[in-house]
Amino acid sequence: MSALLQVRVSDARMLTPVVREFTLTAENGALPGFSSGSHVQVHLPLGERSLRNAYSLTGDPADTSQYRIAVRLQDASRGGSRYLHQQVAIGDILSISPPANLFAPHSTARLHILIAAGIGITPFMAYISALEKSQANVELHYLYRPGLTDAYVTQLQQRLGARFHGYPAGSHVDLTTILSDRPLGSHVYTCGPQRLLDDVCQHATRLGWPSSRVHWETFSAAQPGQPFELTLARSGQRIQVSAEQSLLEALESAGLQVPNLCRGGVCGQCATRHLQGDIEHRDNFLSPAEQAEYLMPCVSRGCGSSVLLDL
Ligand code: FES
Repeated sequence: MSALLQVRVSDARMLTPVVREFTLTAENGALPGFSSGSHVQVHLPLGERSLRNAYSLTGDPADTSQYRIAVRLQDASRGGSRYLHQQVAIGDILSISPPANLFAPHSTARLHILIAAGIGITPFMAYISALEKSQANVELHYLYRPGLTDAYVTQLQQRLGARFHGYPAGSHVDLTTILSDRPLGSHVYTCGPQRLLDDVCQHATRLGWPSSRVHWETFSAAQPGQPFELTLARSGQRIQVSAEQSLLEALESAGLQVPNLCRGGVCGQCATRHLQGDIEHRDNFLSPAEQAEYLMPCVSRGCGSSVLLDL
């Protein structure tokens, strides 16, 4: 993995009761450039554990004097979002990875249809800055709970005018209409909970959209689970994975380097062969056939018995 960047929290503010925005500036030198849809991994020292959570960069990609991220306080937090909400203050230094992009807009699309729910708005904040600059056609459909998960709503309404479509909780979102009779060369992008992603993908498929024009990003950061033990087949080393720790974090704490990019079960970088034990697969990358041989340690866990890994 590339060298970590040290950044200072130059501003922090609550956008809603559960969404806190951080502005980050370089502690040394300049920040690397980024493209819309990029994310960074924020390293969070939680006692003896160290978490790394991925957050989309929400600022204008043309402005690399600062990065911005927005963090939703998770109900079932393993401690990362709570730490960022309750422990981190203006002036603190954070370690982050350089930006990586797994969700870039398609440069030649005739129309960009963005569909976000809640904190899923974050990658689209950078999209909108870049797409407006290039005078691309863009429209946003934003599902939110007023007063809770409606970050940036007013700003987006003013910025996009008639191209902004807001859906406060309880409103009907007519995906058939949104995805019907669109110009040839349109691309649809969606970000939010899995249910929304599934709905958008199912509607798009039913309406004849080619899969190459349907893009999604999920927020499937590692969730807590039952503790379990794993054994490394090549060294015989045994490692305990606690309830709050991901399998990947346990491997890293034991000194193993496992390639990773998204830490959310979507990029495929961390695929690791498992040889024995029951696995609870939580990724969105492997096919069922592949899951019989591999697991994604950033999100997936052992359940019950001990897990033997080909490491
Ligand atoms: S790091 Fe991307 S799937 Fe695990």
